[in-house]
Amino acid sequence: MSVRIAVLGLGSVGKGVLEMIAKKDLDIIVTGVADSKSGLIDPSGLDIGAVLLSKRTGSCGSVAISAKDVVSRADYDILVEVTPTNAGDGEPAFSYMKLAIERGKHVVTSNKGPISLHLKELKGLARERGVFVRYEATVGGAIPIMHTLGNGLAGNEILALYGVLNGTCNYILTRMAAEGLTYDQALAEARELGYAEADPTYDVKGIDAAIKLVILANTIWDNGVSLDRVDITGIDLLTTDALRLAEEKDCTIRLIAEAFPNRGVLRVSPRIIRKDHPLVFEGSLNAITLETDMAGEITLIGKGAGSIETASAIIGDILFISSHVRCN
Ligand code: HSE
Repeated sequence: MSVRIAVLGLGSVGKGVLEMIAKKDLDIIVTGVADSKSGLIDPSGLDIGAVLLSKRTGSCGSVAISAKDVVSRADYDILVEVTPTNAGDGEPAFSYMKLAIERGKHVVTSNKGPISLHLKELKGLARERGVFVRYEATVGGAIPIMHTLGNGLAGNEILALYGVLNGTCNYILTRMAAEGLTYDQALAEARELGYAEADPTYDVKGIDAAIKLVILANTIWDNGVSLDRVDITGIDLLTTDALRLAEEKDCTIRLIAEAFPNRGVLRVSPRIIRKDHPLVFEGSLNAITLETDMAGEITLIGKGAGSIETASAIIGDILFISSHVRCN
């Protein structure tokens, strides 16, 4: 049985999701889409190729149809909410998600704003309505961290976690060290490759990694932490010289996120680490190390950003839901 989705947001992630559904000929019907200016609704299923083509040359649909219209009127099983992160209040995505849940629809999202701010409320509403809210794509790009936490490690106590949670910063640091690029040149490349947020200051000031740390902490420990509890230092003031000096000592610099609940530590900061350290790797990769009581130490590593990589997590969540509930 096909699963029907409505997609909000046709930036790098939304386009990646549509491209992969079409390319892989997945049994997923898209009955609604919206970008920031327009929308399209068709209960019998939209032509994905035509949507992507019209997006390439402008808006995806009619200006008379808003994102809210798509959420409230389209005929879908799962709302795929992939608009840019608003870390301030999570809007308008938070309202769209609540509206979808009230309609008895499942939600799949890459949007870190509402998940970092309102996870408990969204989960509570979803429980009341008997639907799923899944957010694998909010942390670690293609890395199946939420699935691992919720399934493979379900019986474990997670004692601590640390890792590299921002692909843009890892890419910038790699390029500055390897090629001697300036910070601005490396950031321009990361934007070109679709790694950076719509507002890249979220990445380079460490905010994006901190938001992901909050999402992980609340998922694992349900401790209601918020962004203001995280000590944050970004990489925006790092110079090529600082990286060169680290290199001279056979070290490099990485933006490390860490949570040690027993010690009250929630921190994101650039760290000088030896080049042979397991958390030193190149490009947009992310890694998350979990310290657990039964499984010992587990490290997951993979592409932390990018259109298709994030689409992998979104599509995984869609197919998870469609295999667990009866759609249509
Ligand atoms: N801007 C984010 C990053 C995208 O660079 O990691 C994935 O969340």
